[in-house]
Amino acid sequence: MYKRTHTCGELRLSDLGANVALNGWVSTTRDHGGLIFVDIRDRYGITQLTFNEETHPDIFKIARKLSMEDVISTQGEVRTRKKGAINVAISTGEIEVEVVEMEILNEAKPLPFLVSDRNSAAEELRLKYRYLELRTKDLQRFMSIRHKASQSVRNYLSSQNFMEIETPFLMKSTPEGARDYLVPSRIHKGRFYALPQSPQQYKQLLMIAGFDRYFQIVKCFRDEDLRANRQPEFTQIDIEMSFVDETDVFAASEGLVTQVFKEVIDVNLGAPFPTLSYEDALETYGTDSPDLRFDLPLIDFSVYARESDFRAFESAECIKALVIEKGEGYSRKVIDQLSEFVKEYSAQEGKKALEGLGWMRYKDGDLTGGISKFFSQNVRQQIIEEFRLVDGCLILTTGGMTNTVLPTMGALRVEIAKGEGWLDSKSYKPLWIVDFPLLEWEEKDEIWTFLHHPFTAPRQEDVMLLETNPGEVKSRAYDLVINGYEVAGGSIRIHDPDVQMKIFNLIGIAEAEAKEKFGFLLEALTYGAPPHGGIAFGYDRLVMILVGTHQIRDVIAFPKTTSALSLMDGSPSEVSKDQLDELGIRLK
Ligand code: AMO
Repeated sequence: MYKRTHTCGELRLSDLGANVALNGWVSTTRDHGGLIFVDIRDRYGITQLTFNEETHPDIFKIARKLSMEDVISTQGEVRTRKKGAINVAISTGEIEVEVVEMEILNEAKPLPFLVSDRNSAAEELRLKYRYLELRTKDLQRFMSIRHKASQSVRNYLSSQNFMEIETPFLMKSTPEGARDYLVPSRIHKGRFYALPQSPQQYKQLLMIAGFDRYFQIVKCFRDEDLRANRQPEFTQIDIEMSFVDETDVFAASEGLVTQVFKEVIDVNLGAPFPTLSYEDALETYGTDSPDLRFDLPLIDFSVYARESDFRAFESAECIKALVIEKGEGYSRKVIDQLSEFVKEYSAQEGKKALEGLGWMRYKDGDLTGGISKFFSQNVRQQIIEEFRLVDGCLILTTGGMTNTVLPTMGALRVEIAKGEGWLDSKSYKPLWIVDFPLLEWEEKDEIWTFLHHPFTAPRQEDVMLLETNPGEVKSRAYDLVINGYEVAGGSIRIHDPDVQMKIFNLIGIAEAEAKEKFGFLLEALTYGAPPHGGIAFGYDRLVMILVGTHQIRDVIAFPKTTSALSLMDGSPSEVSKDQLDELGIRLK
């Protein structure tokens, strides 16, 4: 192998005449009779190599045998390209290297798919050969942006006095929301470590230890059903701060994301970010992670619907509508498709499906078509005035159970925006969601459960309600949402052991159990615990937004499938009987 003097993206006209050595992968070869052109590639770029039969017949012969993705080492002289062969699209497009020496370092077998075209293979095949997919232009760019972003995060937080501290991966299994991944102990048979769902308790302990500004870019592990944008192991930018309230955490987080967006993709986000209450987010957008790149709010239609003769709405708990301006283009067929979307979407998660969409149009001064005939002239007039309808407006409405109607209409809102092309990929709309309920009632187990995690503080003025009306207690939690993605979540924590115990009791963890499971944290809270709070960014989701993809697997070098498999190494896999014996485990 010749030691490379340059990368494949480096040579320019200013290097003319230089003797250089380049190493890399064969990207393409073109045989022009006595002249062969080979593009050699590495992660920095592509350089055109030429092999001349007349001047270097031996090397020429070897070049003839080159195939795609062979790894080669070459030496040669930098020359200008002929006029017609100049390629302004690439940075090395004005030069080529006439090769005088070459070694083939590794011959590549025919590849399972083209690395020049990611879409040439199904995702399963690409995941099996992920190291090949990582050679593609897209993934090389995504990984590079991910790297840049993590440098930017570290620089910003260090400049703000945050200290990066690592916390254990082998820890005690504690209920925190998702299921734990367990690791059996060989030395202590029958006992297990858990992989952290997040370093939540450790970062709180670090506050008690006096490290008042902590951060960590850290892997988290959750054995949960993988919905979109979730991975069983994912990365967080984990942050915790002492002597703070919400405004301090918001300011630090806004400083961080604005710097990352500016440095990595040259976008000014413009802080401070707006805030919206959880309740308003659900009522107006049908979700607690709304996409604010476009308007189209959900409108409460119940008053009008109830005055109508439309029976389908009679027993509906919640009736919402969307008013689409310039709705003339929505033919019956399109409306039927949207109605189908509503039926299918609402049938998810075992809920009772909605019956579809009712519609009416505003035309020539009145509401017509669809369900308009069920509304009296008077009510139609009220609707027209209330929503300031203009010619061409289309109203789409549906009713049913609140917890079905809201998410479905929220999803329909986005579906319509997709169809209209309102999701501008160059626009970024961050917002904070606040005033979450602390607890929610779980019908199945008839128990209160936490919305974020059990260490989240209740709003001070609501603490009394914990005894009388837990459902009304608001928490000091917050989420950061960008373009419909929950990018970060956090809260001000409980630093009073009595309040912490009260919360454990409320969520059905009795005193003895709490001491057994969280004793170390409860005890630590009695040894001088500063008020503290923090946040964790879903780093993979942040990078998804930075690179402009909707697929979390795109931004993770070696991701798992939605069923938590690694197709490349075949994990999870069976282990030998000896390994199980050593751990004292027998499979059922
Ligand atoms: P939370 O559980 O909200 O909070 O997680 C923080 C952020 O992490 C991202 N995220 C995920 N990303 C990919 N795959 C997953 N399976 C996954 N789960 C979560 C989301 C989310 O907003 N300890 C608390 C934070 C705190 O209170 O400081 C926590 O982990 O973007």
